[in-house]
Amino acid sequence: MTARSAGPLTGRLRVPGDKSISHRALILGALAVGKSRISGLLEGEDVLNTGTAMAALGARVERRRDGVWEIFGVGVGGFREPAAALDFGNSGTGCRLVMGAVAGCPIVASFDGDASLRKRPMKRILDPIALIGARAVAMAEGGRLPLTLAGARDPIPIVYRTPVASAQIKSAVLLAGLAAPGATTVIESEASRDHTELMLRHFGAQLVSAAEGPHGRKITLQGQPELAAAPVVVPADPSSAAFPMVAALIAAGSDVILTGVMTNPLRTGLIATLREMGASIETLDTRSDAGESMADFRVRASALHGVEVPAARAPSMIDEYPVLAVAAAFAEGTTVMRGLQELRVKESDRLAATADMLRQNGVEVEIAGDDLIVHGKGRVPGGGLVATHMDHRLAMSALVMGIGAAAPVRVDDAGFIATSFPGFADLMRALGADIS
Ligand code: S3P
Repeated sequence: MTARSAGPLTGRLRVPGDKSISHRALILGALAVGKSRISGLLEGEDVLNTGTAMAALGARVERRRDGVWEIFGVGVGGFREPAAALDFGNSGTGCRLVMGAVAGCPIVASFDGDASLRKRPMKRILDPIALIGARAVAMAEGGRLPLTLAGARDPIPIVYRTPVASAQIKSAVLLAGLAAPGATTVIESEASRDHTELMLRHFGAQLVSAAEGPHGRKITLQGQPELAAAPVVVPADPSSAAFPMVAALIAAGSDVILTGVMTNPLRTGLIATLREMGASIETLDTRSDAGESMADFRVRASALHGVEVPAARAPSMIDEYPVLAVAAAFAEGTTVMRGLQELRVKESDRLAATADMLRQNGVEVEIAGDDLIVHGKGRVPGGGLVATHMDHRLAMSALVMGIGAAAPVRVDDAGFIATSFPGFADLMRALGADIS
């Protein structure tokens, strides 16, 4: 796929539903008693794979003709043994959260995924769920997929300090702890996205979240709750809105409105950073639903300047660094993004791949330890072919770069965009972008 510069972007856009919330709505719907209705579910491949896994574990998962999804849950601890391996495709979130949910049930289940997911670390989940009583009875080298888990017969409530700021680790422990008697506690030194906590409460669990140190949280869940089916309205995904947002900032004369974007403060690091860089991003309307807040944003093309992005902000914008690096390339001056070690274990090694994407298009960039440093010149030559390494966010970031660059930018494979943002190219074209 190729993106070329083609005048300003204008119009209104609602990006698809939030990926994190969509996975969680399917999993908690499957663990609740009764019928949960989910509207605005992200129908991307990652989330659809989680839905298929929930059906294989015994929940009834149906899509109504009006696009609402209905989940008939089995109750906490009620998963049945799946007949075949659960295939999570490209999705670390789906795989790791379901590993946690299975860990608390007395069943054996196998987990697999595509070549990208097979490279990603699963030991970070296997370690805490072993303390709860689940065992990996088979796995590939280094604790990777494909692997087979034997869930705990008598799950043990634990206190667990996460070794890295990761909502996936935290969520896996909490989901396993649902089946344990007594309180399961997760302590994180840097707060990560809290959608699991908010949605557990929404489904009726008792959960307390308190500050821990300057940036952390301590979350305590009372085990064996009776989760009751609940409606979920999924807001638009801020990690998807990031792409048209940066595109509008860098394409001269653009004026775009993004509607219904989730504004959970643990997800808005990119907006804060872009505003520090001089971006015109106006909040038009705010509201909330099921514990999550959302807003409409008006984004206008802006002259950006380089900034320093502190490591402490990384958890709130962990998926947004590739597209922030694109914004930084169009800014005047140097942008330093600190503390990006977790980017090395995403859908690709995103630290190396983001630097390569910029270099291929004539941007000066360095990796220093775990920091990414982009020397912005206010304009990007473009003209490069970007290797996307089975990574949806790299593909979209490169195409956004092409919208503002002097020469077209090509990506080797746009297929993975459908994992998180189905319809990306059509929606961008509707704003006036030239992507083909
Ligand atoms: C996610 C958590 C993040 C993020 C991923 C979605 C989630 O991963 O990168 O896209 O929904 O919990 P980590 O928790 O591993 O940082």
